[in-house]
Amino acid sequence: MKDTRRLYTDLAWLWPLWGEVDVDYAHYCDRVRALMDQHASAPVKTVLDIGCGGGKNVHNLERAYKVTGLDISAAMLAQARTLNPECEFIEADMRDFSLNRNFDAVLMDDAISYMSSLADFEAAFRCAYAHLKPGGVLITTPDVTIESFEQNRTQTTTARRDDLEVVFIENIFDPDPGDESFETTVVYLIRQHGQLSIETDHWTMGLFSMDTWRSVLTRIGFTVFETPYALGEDAYTVLACVKTRFRPVSLHRGGCRRAVSRFVRRTMDSR
Ligand SMILES: C[S@@+](CC[C@H](N)C(=O)[O-])C[C@H]1O[C@@H](n2cnc3c(N)ncnc32)[C@H](O)[C@@H]1O
Repeated sequence: MKDTRRLYTDLAWLWPLWGEVDVDYAHYCDRVRALMDQHASAPVKTVLDIGCGGGKNVHNLERAYKVTGLDISAAMLAQARTLNPECEFIEADMRDFSLNRNFDAVLMDDAISYMSSLADFEAAFRCAYAHLKPGGVLITTPDVTIESFEQNRTQTTTARRDDLEVVFIENIFDPDPGDESFETTVVYLIRQHGQLSIETDHWTMGLFSMDTWRSVLTRIGFTVFETPYALGEDAYTVLACVKTRFRPVSLHRGGCRRAVSRFVRRTMDSR
């Protein structure tokens, strides 16, 4: 089935409904900041947020650092710029980009979930590695792993703002446990001005074991530190990955190529 990703294109206007910038995102970013400051070998001043979406993490991190956001979606970047007018944003594919500069720290939040093959997964992390200073730190958080995946799990959340109410029904399903991906199918019930519209969306997402996360990151040249993180009833492992070895990474096409998910759980607190 076709990957539509409407939440990042024509339905991106719904994004502000999910996750409170100053609550859920702020809580997560407190942990991100603590890990960056703890693990980086030099004081963290510059941060690259890869797959920054609507810029809610950027908003929390830019209080402490000079933050650059990167995302493949122009619609999401437009929101990120509105929320963070003073920050720099770049439209690029996380599997294959070159900014010709390095950062003290990189955040790769749930956008990594969209890497639906091992090749893409590894290429995205190689790009992150290539954009870190030696001793710099990448923070990334596995969302769904083989260990935590629940076949045919369906979750429903409701978000409200003013006269807009959206019921978000999300189903995850793995049609082929032998490959590295699973499917997320979403139905949106959008009620606005007394009118109901029903929209659908479909995403192909990556599914890897925790051991694969560890081995890919280690092979690229990171030293990986794992710490527990809980948000409400959901528990995650946050990975602080330090660029310990200097290894030039090829940036030509193919060399640095190339969920729901946490953001849905951030929706529980709707207005
Ligand atoms: C679930 S959103 C998360 C956004 C942000 N990290 C947050 O937590 O609010 C996933 C984001 O990943 C972006 N994305 C997906 N594939 C990408 C790619 N290949 N390169 C860059 N961004 C990508 C999407 O455009 C979307 O904005």
